[in-house]
Amino acid sequence: MDIFDTIAARHSVRTYKPDPVPDELIGRCLEAARVAPSWRNGQCWRFVVVREPATIEKLAAQRVYGYRINAWLRTAPVVIVACAEPGESGQHTDLPYWAVDTAIALEHLVLAATALGLGTCWIGGFDEKTVRALLAAPERIRVVAYTPLGYPAEGEALMGRAVKAIARSHSRKPLEKIVFHERWLEK
Ligand SMILES: Cc1cc2nc3c(=O)[nH]c(=O)nc-3n(C[C@H](O)[C@H](O)[C@H](O)COP(=O)(O)O)c2cc1C
Repeated sequence: MDIFDTIAARHSVRTYKPDPVPDELIGRCLEAARVAPSWRNGQCWRFVVVREPATIEKLAAQRVYGYRINAWLRTAPVVIVACAEPGESGQHTDLPYWAVDTAIALEHLVLAATALGLGTCWIGGFDEKTVRALLAAPERIRVVAYTPLGYPAEGEALMGRAVKAIARSHSRKPLEKIVFHERWLEK
């Protein structure tokens, strides 16, 4: 799969086969994250690889706006939690680069996983304190996002289909709407 095919193939997968993911493949995904660019090459990211079903169950059980919107996560054999050590990044404007750096690295991981035939889904709906406690991470650590990692099931279960429909996940704004040439154009 070349990079364009990989980008086109990536989509959020919310139903997984129980099959374990070989350590070698997890390692290749983590290696893709490791080589990502970062502010002053600070590499502030940290990745927690969660395989324990009890921990995955707790990650899945969290409520967002009162709902267990990520309950489907319990089908995943592995979850990679992307964290940041903010002191190892920087701040040039009011943009927190620990978040930028870690997001770039996680997307590297996501695309590598796609190229290896693994499913992923960026998850931002969680309570940071709860996740930090589950991982026994210190207060200074920021939890940026996490993703399941596993083999996609044959078809998405109802929950996955419902989220895709609600989020209109297949739709993207056309380039004409998001690209300007030379200067900003109010549209
Ligand atoms: C910052 C961020 C947070 C997200 N949080 C969640 C989440 O908590 N649960 C979920 O099911 N999907 C979540 N998503 C996935 C989006 O819903 C999904 O990427 C979007 O609908 C486009 O669909 P696609 O990934 O299949 O192309 C998140 C995506 C991003 C980038």
